[in-house]
Amino acid sequence: MAPRVTDEHMTEQTAVNHASAKIVPQLPDMQTVTEVKHYTDRLFSFRVTRPASLRFRSGEFVMIGLMGDEDPETGKRKPIMRAYSIASPSWDEELEFYSIKVQDGPLTSKLQHIQPGDGLILRPKPVGTLVHDALLPGKRLWFFATGTGFAPFASLLREPQTYEDYDEIIITHTCRELGELTYGRDLIDALKTDELLNEVIGDGLWKKIKYYPTTTREDSPKMGRITDLMRSGEAFTDLGVPVLSPETDRAMICGNLAFNLELKEMLESYGLNEGANSNPQQYVVEKAFLD
Ligand code: A2P
Repeated sequence: MAPRVTDEHMTEQTAVNHASAKIVPQLPDMQTVTEVKHYTDRLFSFRVTRPASLRFRSGEFVMIGLMGDEDPETGKRKPIMRAYSIASPSWDEELEFYSIKVQDGPLTSKLQHIQPGDGLILRPKPVGTLVHDALLPGKRLWFFATGTGFAPFASLLREPQTYEDYDEIIITHTCRELGELTYGRDLIDALKTDELLNEVIGDGLWKKIKYYPTTTREDSPKMGRITDLMRSGEAFTDLGVPVLSPETDRAMICGNLAFNLELKEMLESYGLNEGANSNPQQYVVEKAFLD
């Protein structure tokens, strides 16, 4: 990738004193961090500027990263890039991400220290299957998340189409500890005052949402893995809805690998088929980012 000269150099320094102008190489695809929020010692979210040309569908992911340390042998630095779901909706002026912090993780050990004003590398090529286009029309939409797998749903929950296309939206979020539910809970609470959604959808929005958070390693009002709670029937009783059916229910899954596989098998047993952008069906899956 060719280094590029900043606008500042082009317009001011180059014109004033071309010979002495020091050219600062900048990476292409560099965005600026605008906000960082820490939730627990394992979780944080951040917002960055959005490239003017970036268009994406709510629920998609992009590659983001930072420059790695200098290689002691070659003296070169390489970017460390990972796939991250965009947690903000497609209409938002900025981009939001929700991340785990892994102390010895190649990227998140550094990423967890970013501050407003810092640079973040973002490759503007959004892709992914957790999009409305990959599902056939239905009545009830389920979002199944564990941990940071909530991120794509944070985008879709702020997307008007979610409420236009479905009568009911059920969000299940299974985390180890209570503090890990904060990001999702705050986001769902904030929908009450979301200007765009209230203008486009109205307060009927509220009647459509059912939020079902559970914890597995800390006491909370509802404990247990969502998979176990569905298998026993408890989740359906609590939510007041029947078991998923291919006629009415659509689902998106985003969590750790074991969770995705287990839930996929359960949905298949209810008669739902996996969809893709090129072949919309009744459910879609994506793996949450784990550094
Ligand atoms: P548990 O504490 O019983 O392992 P992690 O942080 O390891 O990605 O896990 C996030 C949440 O997902 C945890 O509450 C964890 O429960 C749960 N979990 C892990 N594997 C599964 C699975 N196969 N089915 C359902 N939930 C799972």
